[in-house]
Amino acid sequence: MCADLRASKPTPLTLRNTMKEFDSFLERELMKLDLQTTEPSSLPADLLVVLAADSNVSKEKDARPELLLFTADESVHKAVSQVLAGGEFKAKPNETLLIHGPQALKASRLLLVGTGKAAKFSIHDLRRAAGTAVRYAKPRNIRVLSIVAPSNFSPARTARAIAEGAIIGDFESDTYRTDRTGQSVDSVTVLISESDLQDAEPGLREGTIVAESQNFARALINEPANRMTPTILGQKAAEMAEQSGLHCIIYSTDKLRELKMGAFLGVAQGSDEPPALIVLTYEPPDAPAEPVLGLVGKGITFDTGGLSLKPADSMEKMKYDMAGGASMIAAMRAIAQLKPKVKIISIICATENMPSGKAQRPGDVQIAMSGKSIEVINTDAEGRLVLADGLFYARQLGATHLIDAATLTGAVAIALGQVNAGVFSNDESAYEHFVTALETSGEKFWRLPVEDDYRDQIQSAIADIRNTGLTRYGGATNAAMFLKEFVDDTPWVHLDIAAVAWLDADKPWIAKGPSGASVRSIIEWARRYGQ
Ligand code: BES
Ligand code: ZN
Ligand code: ZN
Repeated sequence: MCADLRASKPTPLTLRNTMKEFDSFLERELMKLDLQTTEPSSLPADLLVVLAADSNVSKEKDARPELLLFTADESVHKAVSQVLAGGEFKAKPNETLLIHGPQALKASRLLLVGTGKAAKFSIHDLRRAAGTAVRYAKPRNIRVLSIVAPSNFSPARTARAIAEGAIIGDFESDTYRTDRTGQSVDSVTVLISESDLQDAEPGLREGTIVAESQNFARALINEPANRMTPTILGQKAAEMAEQSGLHCIIYSTDKLRELKMGAFLGVAQGSDEPPALIVLTYEPPDAPAEPVLGLVGKGITFDTGGLSLKPADSMEKMKYDMAGGASMIAAMRAIAQLKPKVKIISIICATENMPSGKAQRPGDVQIAMSGKSIEVINTDAEGRLVLADGLFYARQLGATHLIDAATLTGAVAIALGQVNAGVFSNDESAYEHFVTALETSGEKFWRLPVEDDYRDQIQSAIADIRNTGLTRYGGATNAAMFLKEFVDDTPWVHLDIAAVAWLDADKPWIAKGPSGASVRSIIEWARRYGQ
């Protein structure tokens, strides 16, 4: 089926906007990461980073912390003993303390980063601590960091977590600020023992690939809708594919008509910008015929709501409504480098959702590619419409296992807040696969139901289904129920990332703006099918 794709001609692309600033972000020098076996105290570093936990098991509120340094280097212990005795540093998660000119160390500065209670210290705390160290250094013009690796986890996982945290921590969303100072960290050295060096190398490489891909998604999402049209998103996917050795085809309106993608076209018809159906394929020669994974993403480059227009304060950030699509493009970038032995197709349905004289109306009936008729009750429930055709098309191209990511519902934010994203599945094995992937990615997802008892919510009187629930209750599940109509029995995992794809405020380890949430989990989900 991929051969068929190759035979067909892509729609020519026209670039309507210049992308100067954006390109300069993506083409910037990447952070350099390396491993070294030097003793921390004898390294002449600009900034030596040492992690510290609180090993006091007392649950009492004012229990004095017992500080545990994650290094065996005696000179480091000596250098910080006086400061620690002072009691001002408590090793709370991501707490920082800088020591200038630490005694008996070659480094000019030492940064302590807290990781919280020692008994609970996890690989995900380590990822965050590395991000915190980088974000501490950036505004202080420190460009070179050395982080002492704790020895609690395997060398590969340790190096991977530090690489991920450092690269993710380096990203900033201030692309268009003229006072942007380009505060990036140039290099991070992971200090590790001689015996761990060899095992750590693949971890450092994987962490770099995964985190650079997550930042790639964030860069795409961060672009305003006037500079990230469906066509430009297709162009960016095509460029990435070219650089990564993936096959890529971008289709537009004509092909959508040929495929009878009535649901996708219904959303696209209101906009002057042509839609883009982005198809990326990864087909390694050593992969078995099955499974074929289908990665489907919602790529609404701007969601006004259509004629069911959003109020201004809900519309403001709707450039990020293509975050699911960006996650899939980014996941494919990582997959091309990690080279799992499994076939993967990715479909991104990109369009604007605009009101106009050509826009679909509430009450219109659209016929999806699958042949199902849909009553469009609310034109703001557009994500499920484009995904209906995207998911069905992925199956038609041979996908045996599906995963989709979408900023699909405000309801998922009401249900889960901005911490966990929603995960839905019709298949225990595909779901278990995803849960296992979360152990590596450290991302938070909470399962919500998608089961037939909810089916009456999307029953229409005039058509097969309606695009919103009969009631406002269980909105995230109603959306998932809609998607399920186009997935049928194909094992499927649906990720509703509406509430986690955008961070409203800085955190010590990550900048505000696009989070790139779901990228790491999707990569790992896919990779595990190819092991
Ligand atoms: N893109 C929105 C969902 C969204 C909301 C994403 C908030 C990010 C933050 C989606 O297309 C939408 O508008 N959904 C509607 C569905 C409703 C009309 C049934 C919603 O959630 O209000
Ligand atoms: Zn919408
Ligand atoms: Zn939307």
